[in-house]
Amino acid sequence: MIREKIKKSIEDALKKLEIEAKEIHLEHPEDLSHGDYSTNVAMVLAPKSGLKPLQLAEKLKSDLSKGLQKGGFIEKIDIAGPGFINFYLSPEFFNESIKEILERKSDFGKNDLGKGKKVIVEYSSPNIAKPFTIGHLRSTIIGDSIAKILEFSGHQVIRDNHIGDWGTQFGKLIVAIKKWGDEKKLNKSKNPVKILVDLYIKFHKEVEKNPKLEDEAREWFKKLEQHDKETFSLWKKIVDWSMKEFNRLYGRLGVKFDEILPESFFEEKMREVLEEIKNKKIGQMSEGALVIFFTEESHLPPLLVQKSDGTSLYATRELATDKYRKEKYGKDIVIINEVGSEQKEYFKQIFAAEEMLGWFKKGERVHISHGLYRLPEGRMSTRKGNAVWLEDIVNEAVKRAGEFNREVAEPVAIGALKFNDLKRESKSDIVFSWDEILNLKGDSGPYLQYTYARARSVLLKAEQEKIKPSTIYHLPATDPERLLYRFPEVVERAVREYSPHYIAIYLLDLASAFNSFYNEIKIVDKNDPDSPYKVALTQAVSIILKNGLWLLGIQTPEKM
Ligand code: ARG
Repeated sequence: MIREKIKKSIEDALKKLEIEAKEIHLEHPEDLSHGDYSTNVAMVLAPKSGLKPLQLAEKLKSDLSKGLQKGGFIEKIDIAGPGFINFYLSPEFFNESIKEILERKSDFGKNDLGKGKKVIVEYSSPNIAKPFTIGHLRSTIIGDSIAKILEFSGHQVIRDNHIGDWGTQFGKLIVAIKKWGDEKKLNKSKNPVKILVDLYIKFHKEVEKNPKLEDEAREWFKKLEQHDKETFSLWKKIVDWSMKEFNRLYGRLGVKFDEILPESFFEEKMREVLEEIKNKKIGQMSEGALVIFFTEESHLPPLLVQKSDGTSLYATRELATDKYRKEKYGKDIVIINEVGSEQKEYFKQIFAAEEMLGWFKKGERVHISHGLYRLPEGRMSTRKGNAVWLEDIVNEAVKRAGEFNREVAEPVAIGALKFNDLKRESKSDIVFSWDEILNLKGDSGPYLQYTYARARSVLLKAEQEKIKPSTIYHLPATDPERLLYRFPEVVERAVREYSPHYIAIYLLDLASAFNSFYNEIKIVDKNDPDSPYKVALTQAVSIILKNGLWLLGIQTPEKM
């Protein structure tokens, strides 16, 4: 990549001056008119060299400039401010990069950072009989995009959905179904989860009046754990009702998994893990329960892995899951959990335990956390009944996208939802607002889809007027060209930091540069000798918008 070439030439120039540099920073200036790359080495290394920053910058510039030839990749080098050295790439370079984009098409932007590496990306992971909330939506959207970015970077990716289908709450739900539910209605319903959640809420109301219900629930869960036939088959129905609804949502969101291994799958595999914890003397019995204690420096609270009544916990199933994954996919597997930040400390405990068990080394377990959606009045909670339902959001989004024609309303709505999430760093909490989440204007998914459709219609017109794209002729560099070649760099950054938002932000910049270009000049013009080049540029923009939006899981309709 051009970045490496420039770095290397700076290194060489420094060597000639006998200055050693540990790290050379090369940035893109904020403003496109200030050049394409900029380095602060002269300022950083001036003290070492005994020169003033500007003097060192001049020396470096004069040496670097010697290497510039006509037809080379760099057109000019400037010194700016207190000693920044700015590099301007040449029209020939932009020419070449457009050629490469048109040749590589859907492959443009790929890299091989992940060559030979296997990684499990676990995301979405909703709970059976609980609402698929906007929180799970974040995990679904971010996780899906990260899986795509990893794949684009050469990794072998296994997409895994760790459905929560086990735990004492199923005892409560079974009590509620038996007492107040109607299986026939549940069978027929389009939204069985809503009914199940109402039953769950009812249980919590009733238990205040009648605490004995808790004991009943515990009994049912025990029966379930013992795989009592009738209990088990009711539980299975609950799972099927919920999955039907979840799968419908995944279909609408365009999200697929390679593996759906729910918590219950690991029920049988926990005993072995508990044995291993005991044998390796990592756990201690404490009041009849098995607990893992961590080192003092880690500041982590102890992790309970078996209750005193012998029942298992979420954490126990977690450990069994990771053991299974390692056995199935090989010892060099990397496991990423895309899960909300409320489980941050929990994952630290899990990772520490897995290191103590000798299963994983540092870096092989990754928690990518996202902030929560909060309602203006506070946290969402299933029990309080104030959680926002994902399907309601999708439906509302489609309604709001009504101004677009019917065929594209759904992809536009889903694009808006996804982009709204992916355009920001995922760490921070978001206050839920319908207007924000369904924003169809400004820095939004539909804006990018619209720009893509615009580029496609320009290309269609060029075809009709028989203007073939050509990369031969060139103009002085334009703003879209100054951004196009950066796409692979942006993808690399996104994969290294597991952060799709770099791609989202980049696409906004590219779209805005292209839209200004489109507004200022005529692209398709039979009498303009530059027209074929402008058409090629337009095609390159359309390819990158498409590749970039694909990485974000957003569709690109040809017309809007
Ligand atoms: N089902 C859990 C929840 O909704 C998330 C599961 C996350 N994944 C995991 N391996 N613990 O809170």
